[in-house]
Amino acid sequence: MIGFIGAGSIGGAVITGMIKNGFEADNIVVKGGHSNRTILLGEQLGFKVVKRVKQLEDAEVIFIAVGATALDSVLKELKEIVAGKLVVAFTGSASITHLKQVLGDVKVAHAIPNTPVKIGAGFTGITYSDNFTDDDKKKVISILGYTGQLVEVPENQLGILGTVAGCSPAFLDVFIEALSDAGVKHGLNRKLAYEAAIGMAIGASKLAKQSELNVSALKDEVTSPGGSTIRGVAALEENGFRNAVIKAVDAAEND
Ligand SMILES: NC(=O)c1ccc[n+]([C@@H]2O[C@H](COP(=O)([O-])OP(=O)(O)OC[C@H]3O[C@@H](n4cnc5c(N)ncnc54)[C@H](OP(=O)(O)O)[C@@H]3O)[C@@H](O)[C@H]2O)c1
Repeated sequence: MIGFIGAGSIGGAVITGMIKNGFEADNIVVKGGHSNRTILLGEQLGFKVVKRVKQLEDAEVIFIAVGATALDSVLKELKEIVAGKLVVAFTGSASITHLKQVLGDVKVAHAIPNTPVKIGAGFTGITYSDNFTDDDKKKVISILGYTGQLVEVPENQLGILGTVAGCSPAFLDVFIEALSDAGVKHGLNRKLAYEAAIGMAIGASKLAKQSELNVSALKDEVTSPGGSTIRGVAALEENGFRNAVIKAVDAAEND
């Protein structure tokens, strides 16, 4: 059995991705917050909802998906039942050092999922405490694997990885919206413009993932001399596209 504390945007997305991709809902118990959000999601997906952290006693792995302000009060309650469990926190501010300071010498991990976990196409960076064994890591992978890719990184890279993979779905949404605006400007109807822009983003991403060529070479392949695509690429550069993306990541990193 596994437990969740909090099932808001990211906790709910992880649970949804797991269950929709074959993880047994009967094996998930969730302690929700003050609203009825968790109860409603539980009714939809079939997992059990409990009122107290103590009721997660039988869980082997506990995922913490509350925001920074609720973290310490949740950790205090969790401390009572945490012995022998694996704890994985999604909370942005939950460093390994802080988790261990409050929980004691238990096995803790810090993970930053992104929203495509909801459909099993997520990208999650994770850092484990030193006392996590390979078998412990396998257990976490066997659970979060239902939501997509899981990549272990040193803790000092978790934040930037979380920004590059976690904030960027919103950046890509803005790009898709802008591309479909351009399609509409040039005469496509809105529905078709969105279909084309989203279909392109899916296809181009799959090609970039599966191809032996890197993205730069893939771009070179479709930019014929004096052609329309290289004129478009040049216009993107003239208007600071690359710099705008780097500045977006800088802005997300500087809170
Ligand atoms: N959203 C993302 O894409 C994303 C990605 C990676 C990491 N994160 C991190 O994950 C954390 C949560 O983000 P979020 O976007 O999921 O926030 P959120 O939508 O506000 O969800 C937090 C949930 O925690 C619940 N909660 C609050 N106090 C609780 C308690 N004492 N016991 C149990 N549940 C409690 C709240 O329930 P009620 O609403 O019912 O009170 C709420 O549903 C943040 O630290 C964020 O940085 C978010």
